[in-house]
Amino acid sequence: MAKTKDKNEWGSNLSFLLAMIGSAVGLGNIWRYPYVLYSNGGGAFFIPYIVAILIMGIPFLILEYGVGYNFKSSFPKAVKSISKKWEYLGWFLPVAVFMILIYYSAILGWDGFYVIISAFKGWGADPNAYFTGSFLQANDTLGGLGTFVPFVAIAMLVGWVIMWVISHTDLEKGLGRVSKVLVPLLFAIMIFIVLFSLTLPGAGIGLAELYNPDWSLLLNFNIWMAAFGQMIFSLSLGMSIAFTYASYTKDDSDLVSNALWVTVANCGFENFAAIGVFSILGYMSLQSGVAVPDLVTQGTGLVFIVYPTVFNVLGDWASVIGPLFFFTVYLAGLTSILSTIEPLSFSIQNKFGWSRNKTMTILCVFGAAVSMIYATAMGSYILGIADTFVNQIAILIGVIFECIIFAWIFKAENIIPKLNAKSKSIKLGKWWLVVVKYVLPIFIAIVWVGGILEVIS
Ligand code: PHE
Repeated sequence: MAKTKDKNEWGSNLSFLLAMIGSAVGLGNIWRYPYVLYSNGGGAFFIPYIVAILIMGIPFLILEYGVGYNFKSSFPKAVKSISKKWEYLGWFLPVAVFMILIYYSAILGWDGFYVIISAFKGWGADPNAYFTGSFLQANDTLGGLGTFVPFVAIAMLVGWVIMWVISHTDLEKGLGRVSKVLVPLLFAIMIFIVLFSLTLPGAGIGLAELYNPDWSLLLNFNIWMAAFGQMIFSLSLGMSIAFTYASYTKDDSDLVSNALWVTVANCGFENFAAIGVFSILGYMSLQSGVAVPDLVTQGTGLVFIVYPTVFNVLGDWASVIGPLFFFTVYLAGLTSILSTIEPLSFSIQNKFGWSRNKTMTILCVFGAAVSMIYATAMGSYILGIADTFVNQIAILIGVIFECIIFAWIFKAENIIPKLNAKSKSIKLGKWWLVVVKYVLPIFIAIVWVGGILEVIS
């Protein structure tokens, strides 16, 4: 590998921790989790959710961190040095993660547009008709391209500025510093919005509906699959992100406690978001007379239709809360986007000896060009396919692949002494090995096979 003068190292443990939280907390926490929780047994969902945290979230994060720190190199390079014949699979993950960037930035483009129009309720009296009608259709026309392309371009540009212009040759100056500002800001605004939504009349109706447990579902494979799938996506597991970020840490980072804190922050945030979303749905139900279950949606429908509908009946507060809400979504998406570039960029830098500058510029320009296509209506169809591919296939492969190659072939035992030497609190022992080598892979296999059989039958 040719050496470059670039400094790929965090300035402090705090930068690493916050950048990792920034990656984990994303659209999945805001628009996916509340729906997953509600539609998979409500209160009863916490059982598979907590199991997923204990046998996958925390132990797996420790594994990715430990191996990343051990190799201090890009993901494909580490995979290659463990087993030469797997190198191409080592490239597969950073590339798949980069695909997330491409569609995340298209959504961010839409969201940026909504930050502005929410200040004056630009969606008019019927947000549904606006979004599915003029907004999405405008994407299809040249005029529409003129409207949305700049917003997608801005999203990419912001990413590029952070990752290249100010990160330049030093990761800490860009991603590190930016995470230290944006991530706390994201949490602060979110807390404000959720507290506000709790004061709305009807909040209790929504929350009662959300947490109402359906215990019978616990015997269903699907809710277990949902819990594990959510945990993988939400914590950005098995995607070579945690690996790459940990390879930038200095020797004094306590990786075991970092894994705990990231999990607490991420899962705390998404549960907080769920409280906000359902308080608002409860309020809306009270205003409109439509029952909460008929209002529940996820994804773009939740952010671009349900929220604007609520803002329309919210009175004066709407012009403050509206832009703040869309800005929160923007921050959550942006800090995640940054983490989708890093693994591929570092892999290219490592393989070809390119500078950080050159790699980031090429990736951002390429990403911007492709996400323009995504921002059109035809593109949103492709986006759906890419989303399904990444969420249901690629990330599953990631976790299983890393379990095999890191826990088995490389041998997870190898990193225990290193991790324990850095850990000031919890010391890893046999229990951790048993979890990452046996419990987790077996559990995932059972849940996925069972889930697939359940869908087919
Ligand atoms: N963790 C992010 C979320 O919850 C999703 C994501 C995964 C983003 C990987 C970037 C990279 O939304």
